[in-house]
Amino acid sequence: MSDQSAFDTDVWTLTRFIMETGRQAKGATGELTQLINAMLTAIKAISSAVRKAGLAHLQGMAGSVNVTGDDVKKLDVLSNTLVINMLQASYSTCCMVSEENKELIVTPKDKRGKYVVCFDPLDGSSNIDCLASIGTIFAIYKRVGLTGTLPTEKDALQPGHAIVCSGYALYGSATLVALSTGAGLNFFMLDPAIGEFILTERNVRIKQKGKIYSLNEGYAKYFHPSINEYLKHKKYPEDGSSPYGARYVGSMVSDVHRTIAYGGIFMYPANEKSPKGKLRLLYECNPIAFLIEQAGGLATTGTQRVLDVQPEALHQRVPFVVGSPDDVNEYLSFVKKFS
Ligand code: AHM
Ligand code: MG
Repeated sequence: MSDQSAFDTDVWTLTRFIMETGRQAKGATGELTQLINAMLTAIKAISSAVRKAGLAHLQGMAGSVNVTGDDVKKLDVLSNTLVINMLQASYSTCCMVSEENKELIVTPKDKRGKYVVCFDPLDGSSNIDCLASIGTIFAIYKRVGLTGTLPTEKDALQPGHAIVCSGYALYGSATLVALSTGAGLNFFMLDPAIGEFILTERNVRIKQKGKIYSLNEGYAKYFHPSINEYLKHKKYPEDGSSPYGARYVGSMVSDVHRTIAYGGIFMYPANEKSPKGKLRLLYECNPIAFLIEQAGGLATTGTQRVLDVQPEALHQRVPFVVGSPDDVNEYLSFVKKFS
């Protein structure tokens, strides 16, 4: 029995939670548990690197540009290498897609397993050097190709509704992991004293409607009129209600985590300069859309449920709007009005 004093002697670690979930799944082999544990090890190492970035000379540029044209920071490179090495060493992946690698990363033959992982090792890298929160995002799929055959892009180009498990790590004032295997969303907080993630919130639910909108409004000049009209409605409501508050960190994991915690809407819509938005479907939008839906929220491109988009390319972008169901539906009503 659990000790109710200050020190919990029957604590639910993330490892315990995953093992328990695995035991309940029919025909489970433990491979997914192995994979998630490897991901957690990478996340702990990234968290440690993020915390001492300045002291360990990890701030600043690596001197290159990645596949989608972003400047690569030293911490991006380190985080990417950590995730690839940890996951390949878990004998549970056949291939991976990373924001930092142009091509599909195929696991060496002797280390292959049945899962595909799409990840952004360090999202929000423009926030590294100013010490604002950043994160890691990942989605896990079962491969579609037959075991023993060479993994191909087809294994990774699966719609988000086929996700087996997804999550994000937020390196904020504490390190948190949000994770779902399709049976609700759970939050775990890193206890640095024991190096374990502890279950802090089970079956998280997003508010039906929030009071905050979040987007880079600096691009208003380039937005579609439906977006600007929606924003005007949030700032100058005509029904006597109070205007919404505005928040924008510029790290999607932070902005999404706040949206889940407090309710409201987060958007990275298309604009004239980026006709498909900025965020990438496979390793940014899909994992987050999966988690948001698990919490009772909605995730849309404006024309379609994000999880139903059939991916065509590893680094494809989509417009992205997520949040409380009433807020996302209200936004969709503006899209409809202008279509
Ligand atoms: P990154 O993967 O290069 O860090 O870019 C993704 C980030 C998201 O975290 C965030 O929502 C967005 O870029 C911010 O972009 P902008 O600076 O255009 O507002
Ligand atoms: Mg990113």
